[in-house]
Amino acid sequence: MTGAPANIIVGNQVGRTYLAAMTNELVEIMLNCRRCAVLTGAGISAESGVPTFRGKQGLWKEFKPEELATMSAFMANPNIVWQWYNWRRELMGKVEPNPGHQALAELEDMFTDFTLITQNIDGLHRQAGSKNILELHGNIHRNKCAECNQHVAAQTDIDPDNIPTCEQCGGRIRPDVVWFGEMLDNDIISTAFRVSEESDVFLSIGTSAVVHPAASLPMMAKRSGATLIEINPERTPLTELADFYVSARSGEFLPPLVEQLRGRRTDPKA
Ligand code: OAD
Repeated sequence: MTGAPANIIVGNQVGRTYLAAMTNELVEIMLNCRRCAVLTGAGISAESGVPTFRGKQGLWKEFKPEELATMSAFMANPNIVWQWYNWRRELMGKVEPNPGHQALAELEDMFTDFTLITQNIDGLHRQAGSKNILELHGNIHRNKCAECNQHVAAQTDIDPDNIPTCEQCGGRIRPDVVWFGEMLDNDIISTAFRVSEESDVFLSIGTSAVVHPAASLPMMAKRSGATLIEINPERTPLTELADFYVSARSGEFLPPLVEQLRGRRTDPKA
């Protein structure tokens, strides 16, 4: 990777005094912008105890996505796929939003034009109080029919050896998440591209920025003139494009950032 973002804020220096001094410019931009879009990935939920996909302890080190997260895997071994999703559903049902999720919910209240785009399926943003959310990859707590895509009432306990079927068409019930090789919901991804393009500030938080089309959103925002801020302890393909790269955990950086804006942000539209 070549190049460098314009401003680098290093995690081990994050602290209130440091933030006050070194992120002044970033805070000013956040204070004066109108439209804010945020993209989150697995990293924002890491501090809640939800495993990420890549990296040393990522899920894709231990499990093979093609055996668990594709339609062909579901057709071949629906019980194995459901066992895996039941395990993840149980895990995600037990965890709580962390200060990073909570800070984003508070940030939303400071804007009349704010969209939270997430690749996460855990529902933690909504639990933290975020409202205008685009769930690009679905939601693990919902089910739908594998044949006709009809949403069905949430059933938490799916017996992998006796998978319920759709009342409309008899197809097997599957989790309402996007699997590899599947298209994203057209309305959701189109809206995500539109708000990214229109944003003045775009925050990319806790994503390795390698899975498209999600990873194209910050690039689109930057190309359209937004200030791009990346928050991630590790560098990603986005880092060199970013105007600000914050090498920190989201749960440590976002609360003091929001604290800096609290009581000071007046939305130009409000
Ligand atoms: P990844 O697992 O690819 O990346 C997680 C990112 O979070 C990494 O870049 C970490 O450095 C960063 N990270 C870890 N802890 C963090 C923390 N406390 N604060 C901030 N960042 C932290 O997850 P995603 O980018 O979300 O798709 O993966 C994208 C998609 O790939 C997922 O939605 C999933 C997966 O295959 C589907 O299932 C369709």
